[in-house]
Amino acid sequence: LPQLTMVNCYIFAVLMQLGIFLVFGKPQVPCYFIFGDSLVDSGNNNELVTTAKANYQPYGVDFPQGVTGRFTNGRTMADMIGELSDLDEFIPTHATVTDQQISKGVNYASGGAGILPETGRHLGGRISLERQLNNHKEIVSQLSRLQENTTFTNEHLSKCLYIVNTGSNDYINNYLRPNFYKTSHMYTPYQYASILVRQYSLQLKRLYNLGARKIVVFGLAPIGCTPAEIHYFGTSGNKCVESINEAVNQFNDKLKPLIDDINHDNEDAKFTFINVTHISSLQKVVPWPNVPCCEVMVDGQCAHKTTTCPIRILSIYYDGFHPTEFSHNVIATSAYIALSPMNASPYDIRHLVQL
Ligand SMILES: *[C@@H]1O[C@H](CO)[C@@H](O)[C@H](O)[C@H]1NC(C)=O
Ligand SMILES: *[C@@H]1O[C@H](CO)[C@@H](O)[C@H](O)[C@H]1NC(C)=O
Repeated sequence: LPQLTMVNCYIFAVLMQLGIFLVFGKPQVPCYFIFGDSLVDSGNNNELVTTAKANYQPYGVDFPQGVTGRFTNGRTMADMIGELSDLDEFIPTHATVTDQQISKGVNYASGGAGILPETGRHLGGRISLERQLNNHKEIVSQLSRLQENTTFTNEHLSKCLYIVNTGSNDYINNYLRPNFYKTSHMYTPYQYASILVRQYSLQLKRLYNLGARKIVVFGLAPIGCTPAEIHYFGTSGNKCVESINEAVNQFNDKLKPLIDDINHDNEDAKFTFINVTHISSLQKVVPWPNVPCCEVMVDGQCAHKTTTCPIRILSIYYDGFHPTEFSHNVIATSAYIALSPMNASPYDIRHLVQL
């Protein structure tokens, strides 16, 4: 049965890829705010001094406007969740958003960033979740000034959709890089997961206190299955680096109950958890290996101006770490229409937007 559900996800994703769902209705939410890392960044890092950038070819080969700073070949799951919610435009980055646009939402996400402020430091500039929330606070104040009616602004913010997809770099660009960061010398995976989730809990409550109510929190993918980690650590005969997946699951296992607690403690809070590990178990059904689609550099990013694999719909990873547009599509579609409560709980996004 789980396999059947996976196959259904896959069929939905194919339909979505073909544009079958793109019948434009009325937007299901008036606004959409995006927080996180390179999984949902759409160009905030372009002007930063960092190696965590994707504003060059072959990133964006399948994106209508080409290269934008998205860390994949096409749209991200954040873009697709917007499309599935019938929004008519992609959400602008915080780096480029204008006063006229802020009432419809902002994308604050930054590649290399995480829950802990020091995460991703060795890559260069990045906007940690804490700083993304600072930016959001400024945007909320600006919106209040422009709308000149606090009651109206608060009602508006409570109807928006918010997604938060972060934590991967707290492993990839922190805990799993002992040459640059002390965390793995200091903490067991269990202790580290507790530290991350405690910090994340304060950050999610801060988002709630800034007026957010409909909040989608993504769990972490099986990071031990990324081509870069497999290359770096080896799999001793398994398909993935199981020790990494186990460490990451400690985080996921603490995050889900946190979401339930926040919902329980705050009557109007509508947080929901997306089990990306479950959605990604598709990886175990497909026969092909976990190899990147582009030619990668030592850091796992695509090499500049190289060619990519011709059939990108058959590839899970675009570079050493990042999913292809098609994998983004499977995650977005399963989060929006959850065929199993394992994918999204307590709500899938389709129901969340209607609450
Ligand atoms: C402010 O907004 C609220 C909620 O939309 C509305 O009921 C109220 O009339 C507005 N106040 C003013 C002064 O426009
Ligand atoms: C996510 O789904 C997997 C099954 O694929 C399950 O083992 C795990 O417990 C789930 N995680 C959470 C936090 O619910």
